[in-house]
Formats: sequence, C-alpha cells, structure tokens
Amino acid sequence: MATKSTVILGTGCYAPPRVLTNDDLSKMIETSDEWIVTRSGIRERHIAGPDESTSDMAVEAARAALADAGLQATDIDLLIVATITPDLPLPAVACNIQHKLGVPTQAACFDLNAACSGFVYGLDTACAMIASGRYKHALLIGAEKLSSIVDWNERTTCVLFGDGAGAVVLGASDQEGVGLIGTKLGAYGDSTDLLYIPKGGSSCPATAESIAAGDHFMKMKGKEVFKLAVRAMDEAARDILEQHGLHADQIGLVIPHQANLRIIEAIAKYLELPMDRFFVNVDRYGNTSAASVPIALHEARKSGRIKAGDITLLVAFGAGLTYGSALIRW
Ligand code: UT7
Repeated sequence: MATKSTVILGTGCYAPPRVLTNDDLSKMIETSDEWIVTRSGIRERHIAGPDESTSDMAVEAARAALADAGLQATDIDLLIVATITPDLPLPAVACNIQHKLGVPTQAACFDLNAACSGFVYGLDTACAMIASGRYKHALLIGAEKLSSIVDWNERTTCVLFGDGAGAVVLGASDQEGVGLIGTKLGAYGDSTDLLYIPKGGSSCPATAESIAAGDHFMKMKGKEVFKLAVRAMDEAARDILEQHGLHADQIGLVIPHQANLRIIEAIAKYLELPMDRFFVNVDRYGNTSAASVPIALHEARKSGRIKAGDITLLVAFGAGLTYGSALIRW
C-alpha cells in the first residue's frame, strides 16, 4: 500500500513530581509571585530530583506515547531526542534512552539540538525519514532537565525554566489528507549571543575559573529574546499558512512554545486570533525548552482540544535563535 502521509500515532508526557511555586522561589531569591506572573504568566514549574536524569524523564514520556499508539519499543526503528540537556555531553542521550526502553539495536538513534524549536525540527526530520520509506515507526522525544543549566542565584533566568519530557510516535498512513501538512524552519544565527552558555564547549573548555564564575550556566538577554521571538514566531506562523493556502481562522488550535504568556498573547494579536485558540500551560510548567511543545500537544489531545479533521499549528522559537512551525491535520 502506498504511503500517503505521516501521522502521529500516540503522544505522552512526564513531569517530575516536585513542584516549585513562585512563592517557593521568593524564599530563595529576591523575587515575587506578582513579578513572575505579571512578566511571564508562570505560576509553578516541575523540578527533577538529583537522581532523575533527562533520559529517565524521556523514558516515562516515551512509554506513555508507545502505549497510546498501541506499539512496543521493539516496533521503533528511528529514535530522535530533541534536547539541550543530554545526560552527558557524549554520547547522545538517544542511545541511553534506546537502551532503557529496549528499542532494537537496528534503530537509528540521535540527538537534535535546536533548543526550544527542537521538537518542531525533529518533527520535520522524523516525518521526512518516514516519508522516504526507509523507516516505519519513529519515536520523537523532547526532554529537558533545564534545572541543571540554570543559575539558581540569577533571578532574571531561574524563575522562567522547568523540567519535563514529551513524546510522540509517528508512522506512515495510507489515508490521504491527514498528518503532517508541512513545516517551516529557520534560524537567526546572528543572534547566538542572546541565549547561550559561555563556557564548557570546544571553543572554551570548562576550567575551575569558568565554573567559579558560573559560565557553565545559561545566560540570556531577555528583552532582546522577547522581541525576536515574537517576530520569528509571527513570521513562521504566517509563512506556513500562506504556503499551504490557509487562513489563521482555519486553525483549530495553535500550540506555541511555552516560554512566556505575553509572547503567546502577542502572537494571538498579530494573527488576529482569540486566546482560546491557543493552548497554554506555561503557568504550570514554565519554559521546558524542547519538551514544551510535545507536553502541550499531549495535554491538548487528552483534554479534548483536538478533534478529527482539525488543523493544529505548532510554532516555536529558541536559542540560536531558531524558529519553526508545523501544520498537522488530525
Ligand atoms: O525559550 C526562549 C527563552 N527565553 C524567553 O522566552 C525570554 C523572553 N523574555 C522574557 O520573557 C522577558 O524579557 C523576561 C520575563 C525575561 C523579563 O521581563 P521584562 O519585562 O523584559 O523585564 P526586564 O528584564 O526589563 O526587568 C524589569 C525589572 C528589572 O529591574 P529594573 O532594572 O527595572 O530596576 C529587573 O532587574 O525587573 C527586575 N527583575 C526581577 N524582579 C523580580 C528581573 N528579574 C526579576 C525577578 N523578580 N525574577
């Protein structure tokens, strides 16, 4: 039977049990629930325990997605993990996850770093690989332990991020008109300094001094990221709609990267769509980078916000500064 489309067969997500509220944070640093909610819309986030790794969270989300799809780990022949916080710099955390899940050794396994846009980049990659006919079932995971790269003394960043994982299982379908309609990916490589980790890479390996200075933690120019994020997400959304001859009004639900409620509200305004067309859970998770879109996608499906025949728009931006959008028909 000819393959006509690539579809999402199942979704899953996982968040560590420990919840850190804004009030908890205000006991650790000089901040307040009022400041965090007003500036970002975040009320709480999940934080992994010291013995809980990115791969542990990814495995939980993946098991849920496989169960939802009615498939076993042994059915997977492609495993992609979008992350900026692999368990170790080497090897790819996809290989740890493969082993923990029992995905066959014949499966292709690799990590993908496009920061918070990683899931959308991974979706494009996985769908193209399935459409090639050379892979049957892909497991695409977005998983992050951002608490490990956040400076907990730096109030301008630490209040924004959280830990978690989301996963989808993808496969080919012979049904026409469903599944991934298209994607639009891009990057502003002239803005790498807006959100980055200064030391610990090959250009400046970590030293005792760099660690003492906290240069192994994430640094961000919040205001600049905000402005470029709104521009990039708006363009990515508009471009993909135009490319496929669709109007924003035809989108049942927009699932944006959950970084800041004010960014989501700005996109809604530019696209002239009411906020009830946007899925929002940033209040409960904060920014979980590559895990943000798949967690939101799973929660949107499970809460009945997506119905058969609906078109969903995914749109994200992240360090790089990368951006991406995807259209899916259910
Ligand atoms: O996935 C990509 C991840 N990054 C983002 O999405 C970040 C995008 N940017 C943002 O979300 C916003 O720029 C922030 C939420 C980071 C900051 O909001 P803002 O409205 O741009 O605030 P600001 O940086 O201009 O800070 C305003 C004030 C400053 O004080 P002064 O200089 O006006 O006296 C900050 O020092 O708020 C102060 N401030 C805080 N106060 C209480 C900064 N962080 C905090 C804090 N609690 N946590």
